[in-house]
Amino acid sequence: MAEPPPNPLTVGLERLPVHPTSLVIFGGTGDLARRKLLPALYNLGADGALPERFSLVGVSRSALPDEEFRAQAKAAVQEFSRRPADPAVLDALLADARYISGSFDDDAMYPRLCAALDGFDETAGQKLNRAFYLSTAPEFFPVIVEALGRHGLTGSDGAAVRVVIEKPFGTTLAEARELNRTVLGVLDESQVFRIDHYLGKETVQNMLAFRFANGMFEPLWNRNYIANVQITAAEDIGIGSRAGYYDNAGALRDLMQNHMMQLLSLLCMEPPVDFSADEVRSEKVKVLHAIAPPPPERTVRAQYAAGNVAGTEVPGYTGEDGVRDDSHTETFAAIRLDVENWRWAGVPFYLRTGKRLARKVTEIAVTLRPVPHQAFNQEGSVGVRPNQLIFTVQPNEGVTLKLGAKIPGTRMRVRDVNMEFLYGTTFLSQSPEAYEKLIMDAMRGDATLFTRNDEAEAQWRIMDPVVARWKHEPGPLPQYEAGSPGPPEADALLGGEDEWRAI
Ligand code: BG6
Repeated sequence: MAEPPPNPLTVGLERLPVHPTSLVIFGGTGDLARRKLLPALYNLGADGALPERFSLVGVSRSALPDEEFRAQAKAAVQEFSRRPADPAVLDALLADARYISGSFDDDAMYPRLCAALDGFDETAGQKLNRAFYLSTAPEFFPVIVEALGRHGLTGSDGAAVRVVIEKPFGTTLAEARELNRTVLGVLDESQVFRIDHYLGKETVQNMLAFRFANGMFEPLWNRNYIANVQITAAEDIGIGSRAGYYDNAGALRDLMQNHMMQLLSLLCMEPPVDFSADEVRSEKVKVLHAIAPPPPERTVRAQYAAGNVAGTEVPGYTGEDGVRDDSHTETFAAIRLDVENWRWAGVPFYLRTGKRLARKVTEIAVTLRPVPHQAFNQEGSVGVRPNQLIFTVQPNEGVTLKLGAKIPGTRMRVRDVNMEFLYGTTFLSQSPEAYEKLIMDAMRGDATLFTRNDEAEAQWRIMDPVVARWKHEPGPLPQYEAGSPGPPEADALLGGEDEWRAI
């Protein structure tokens, strides 16, 4: 039987050339490496997207022989890859993988790492680029970066050296500034890749395509036509085994200061001159500069109480393992921000995020102003609701435009209908995981989808006063039942007739 013709819509999914690279994962046996980084490398390998020569080094504390690291990495890929692992691809990926054990603050470990990397260069007969991925507890970020500097690992004649830094980039503005000072004391900004995995999500990048590749949206993209914007990052999961981290972080720092501010910046930025890293990031930073820290009456925090999520009884936050009984850490945060510039003055931006909500949904909903005159309010017409454009980041990646349409029949009745674009059905392929895109971009030296130094600080400048205020305000916090849409207190943020979208 003849082969079916290729789907023309998948033609754009090609892979880009990458210089031969050694990738070092600090925290190579940790949770993030197991769940995300190693599976992402496998999937890049399966797509033929890794460089022709690619060598992997894991660095962690526990003493393991190379063989054991390879076995653990293999098991992690088999458990967490988005596609079933092909043994041939997996073996090829890990064939020469090395493991270096040691404490990140132990100077004796770095010469061993150096020797492993030099060994890869020798075998390849060329200088490989080097990428260091800091997937460790944040207190080790400055420690590792300084050690790389002391041991001559931040530069390599004839090859590029890059450092990827995981979140959180500081837990306050002062810490973020200090970390930037340390990092930029040793590296050039062009070598630094501060990860925000939301920027690796297809739908997030698609916001730029929608805005700047289509003539029909940009003319409306301002205060004259847009009534309000709602950004929701709701999760049904609790904190799992992450109490140690989460109880010190809370929802505002965990998700809003970074991921949600990225979504807001992309939505609000001016068209960049081109899509180079600095042009795009400069425009995003300008948006952040136009936002003032929200006053108390524009912020709401809450904590989940026991409840039922998807048919399972779950404990309240303070009943989770490792959480203090009197914890005042918020698991839900909602704020209203204003972007005080020519384009957005007067448009409220409502942001909310929380754990143990009714379902997982991340979306950006742009609500347009209503039509000036409701000529359809007659004979039982339900009227015309304002148009909405909804970017669904997850779970059903796509874009929906809500329009008013006539209900068939003799009467002139109007209701909302959806025009939908869904990735899964249009492109007939699974979107790559965010980490696949980001690891690839870091290896290629493209920093467009990474947070720049001034950007990280500008995000903190907005959120830091809220974090500080909440730290000193006594509890108890408002509670919401696990599995519910969140606390009713969040409604108080909304102006006029605005309503939160259903979760
Ligand atoms: C992480 C947070 O950055 O993002 C987690 O630390 C959160 O608490 C996660 O669950 C959400 O990511 P995603 O890709 O599932 O929306």
